[in-house]
Amino acid sequence: MIKTKLTELLGIEYPVIQGGMAWVADAKLAAAVSEAGGLGLIGAANAPGEVVENWIREAKSLTKKPFGVNIMLMSPYADDIARICVEQGVKVITTGAGNPGKYMDMWKAAGIKVIPVVPSAALAKRMERAGADAVIAEGTESGGHIGELTTMALIPQVADAVSIPVIAAGGIADARGVAAAIAPGIADARGVAAAIALGACGVQCGTIFVCADESPAHDNFKRMIVEAKDTDTVVTGRASGAPVRCLKNKLTRSLLKLEHEEELDREAYEARTVGSLRKAVVEGDEDNGTFMAGQIAGLVCQIAPAAVIIEKLMKDSEALLKNLLQERGVTIA
Ligand SMILES: Cc1cc2nc3c(=O)[nH]c(=O)nc-3n(C[C@H](O)[C@H](O)[C@H](O)COP(=O)(O)O)c2cc1C
Repeated sequence: MIKTKLTELLGIEYPVIQGGMAWVADAKLAAAVSEAGGLGLIGAANAPGEVVENWIREAKSLTKKPFGVNIMLMSPYADDIARICVEQGVKVITTGAGNPGKYMDMWKAAGIKVIPVVPSAALAKRMERAGADAVIAEGTESGGHIGELTTMALIPQVADAVSIPVIAAGGIADARGVAAAIAPGIADARGVAAAIALGACGVQCGTIFVCADESPAHDNFKRMIVEAKDTDTVVTGRASGAPVRCLKNKLTRSLLKLEHEEELDREAYEARTVGSLRKAVVEGDEDNGTFMAGQIAGLVCQIAPAAVIIEKLMKDSEALLKNLLQERGVTIA
């Protein structure tokens, strides 16, 4: 059993967090992941407070184990959800798209563990100063809204910048990703042995959990991820200032075409993107949906229960960590 600072901090069995994915991370998925020993997150995204409250109640009815809520701080309902999490006794909050500073005292007083998602070492430091218990450093390989740095470059720099636990996200969907992120030791050789020890104490995965049996994502979405190869994602929205990684389709082609025009037609762009995640997750509209997925989609090749995904990830990681140097033919003279 792999125990790390993260399993200790959150009281969970395995150092795996299921990312808080808009429209995908509902109460059933979060509860299934928590039941399986990871940390499931409910993705609040832009949902109103009462909807999130119902999801929290539902998750509580499905598992007695800790689960969390991902709050998108730019949501117009962020204040409500911040308060509801306290009232409902939520154990963990992860945050994205902003600074959670104004809620920190309330959350800490309630004993909530606060884990912001960060795309840079500077932001990680700011979050540590604001009182965060850990940070999720998310690389640009991830599905969904992204920053610029790759997981490989980001994690060791964040790990050096802060003393709170660091969780790696982006591009992790099998034991090699887990081992790369959390394998201890060889710290000073990270430049050389980066793939062996990036310096995180846990991982957050998104894309692989879209394909969990319990995920509400449309069958078309799951199939598209399973069929994807390594080069099948693309980033749209760089020109509009909100880059999103998703699977290539008719919509991404038309968005990129708009982005490459001399002046961005924001109205036309908006018209195509509004509601497009819903079209992907709920309707499975292969042409007009935004199928958020990470570069690791090419490695995700089956739809399975969350418990099977987590168990395989952890069993393989244990074996790999035990045999890493030998298996890779690495010798240290
Ligand atoms: C469909 C989808 C929706 C996502 N929505 C959110 C979100 O609402 N909030 C958030 O913090 N991260 C979101 N993410 C990012 C994930 O939480 C996670 O950090 C990321 O997927 C990890 O990278 P991976 O896809 O390579 O596993 C989303 C990812 C996907 C695939």
